[in-house]
Amino acid sequence: MNEYCIKYGLAEERLPQHVAIIMDGNGRWAKKRLWNRLVGHRAGADAVDTITTLCREIGIKYLTLYAFSTENWNRPESEVTGLMELFKEFLVAKKHLLIEKNIRLNIIGEKNKFSPELLKLMNDTIAETEKYDPQMTLTLALSYGSRQEITQAVRKIAQKVAAHEITPESIDEKLISESLYTFNMPDPDLVIRTSGEYRISNYLLWQIAYSEFYFTDTLWPDFKKDEFIKAVKDYAGRERRFGKTGDQVKK
Ligand code: IPE
Ligand code: IPE
Ligand code: MG
Repeated sequence: MNEYCIKYGLAEERLPQHVAIIMDGNGRWAKKRLWNRLVGHRAGADAVDTITTLCREIGIKYLTLYAFSTENWNRPESEVTGLMELFKEFLVAKKHLLIEKNIRLNIIGEKNKFSPELLKLMNDTIAETEKYDPQMTLTLALSYGSRQEITQAVRKIAQKVAAHEITPESIDEKLISESLYTFNMPDPDLVIRTSGEYRISNYLLWQIAYSEFYFTDTLWPDFKKDEFIKAVKDYAGRERRFGKTGDQVKK
């Protein structure tokens, strides 16, 4: 038995394997205090720390965090620049912690959009953290948009057809899943969105076909351990039917 599951009163066998979070509300958190939005993003990075550590403790295998969408490039230049700086700082500051805690870093999104410096940092951290039999995967969705992800997957598959490597008839759900950035992870069991917004904002559209959703009004920088535990307990109490009847599932 995992000691942290006991501590938090969680049933280990009911834990989600993969939790995906839309970390929203950093800007409003800062605005309420009359601070610059970037202060909110910094506070958001601290919440990333807290939740990642908690997931590692209780034994969640995959945590996927939406940190920057393809649409977020349209924000004011100063905010975009500040966020890119913050991602760099985060990678430098957290590398050792990730290694120490045996957490593998993964990044999904349009990597070619980042500066060579940021890209190198990402690739170095990814390489360093996958060396020692990682116990958990932390995925950051950066310059990520689900429609962009699906578009590049379709293009990849079309190229294979054009090269006669595969036939159109052989295209199935498995091939599509394997052509997405998330090819090496299971679909999310639980999706959490903070800040009282009830939308998906182009996040993991293919992968969330059967995910459970948890929405909270809490702004991301205020999202603490107790609220994550509450979300996981809520998830644990749900019946996932995948199209079957309740009676079938209980058998
Ligand atoms: C989420 O917080 C972080 C990013 C999108 C980078 P926001 O920056 O969207 O915060 P709000 O929604 O303006 O409060
Ligand atoms: C979604 O948040 C993207 C991230 C959390 C990184 P946004 O705040 O950008 O989403 P919308 O535009 O309000 O839907
Ligand atoms: Mg927002």
